[in-house]
Amino acid sequence: MTLAEHIQEATRFIQGANPFSAIRGAVILGSGLGEFADGLQNVHYVNYADIPHFHQPTISGHAGRLAIGEIAPGFPIACMQGRFHYYEGHDLNTVVFPTRVLKALGAEFLIVTNAAGGVNTQFPPGTLMLIEDHLNLTGTNPLIGPNPEFLGPRFLDMTQAYDSKLRQMAQEVAAHHTITLESGVYAGLSGPTYETPAEVRMLRTLGADAVGMSTVPEVIVANHMGIKVLGISCITNAAAGITGEKLNHQEVMDTAEQTKQRFVTLLSGLLNQLAAQPALSA
Ligand code: HPA
Repeated sequence: MTLAEHIQEATRFIQGANPFSAIRGAVILGSGLGEFADGLQNVHYVNYADIPHFHQPTISGHAGRLAIGEIAPGFPIACMQGRFHYYEGHDLNTVVFPTRVLKALGAEFLIVTNAAGGVNTQFPPGTLMLIEDHLNLTGTNPLIGPNPEFLGPRFLDMTQAYDSKLRQMAQEVAAHHTITLESGVYAGLSGPTYETPAEVRMLRTLGADAVGMSTVPEVIVANHMGIKVLGISCITNAAAGITGEKLNHQEVMDTAEQTKQRFVTLLSGLLNQLAAQPALSA
């Protein structure tokens, strides 16, 4: 079967499992944020395990289902509760397959969220950071291989990988809710090891403000398909070597949990704003 057929099968299955004919946008929920989707109106869940050609995430803190529901009547979105990471051993086609299906379901925008280490020492744990750009340091790229022309171009411009209008809107929503929203560059690495202190110093020299193990592949394919992207990182820990403390997944999960309320307020405010202003492509 071809990629186009795989996308079509997954899309048809999801469409058959919820009452909305098309979604307007999509959100990828990072560590600890999954619950956000449970607040959608008229929400329907589709387990990844049931969707043709989807895999199962293997990481605790990530469920494995799509939540489809409305932000406002007539404005359905899909939220990924759990994502696929390269470090889990999936190939990148598997990692980005759901993003391709979200586009086929109708998504005009994609909001990607993640937990990240703070490379910028001004961004302590609990900081919310708007991703203004990224460094792809995974050593690979999801678009390597024959280009699926029906999805997008062979040589993709990445000048506005994170849409400036959406970033502006996020800043306005944050200000409205008196939420401090920093802005910075996200360095995406393969993981699964956390960085060494020397790597963190290197990342700082390269212009990174945050470091994580996700997001970059999905953002690349979303851009490939012409979806507008917004990215927000929750800084869950100071990156390695900054405090002298060791890093662990529990700290990441705990900070994500503590920051959740602010994150959800920002995300809800943003989605309400998007729902109120349908002319996204203008
Ligand atoms: N490094 C990489 N990924 C991460 C980190 C980190 O410090 N924190 C959360 N995800």
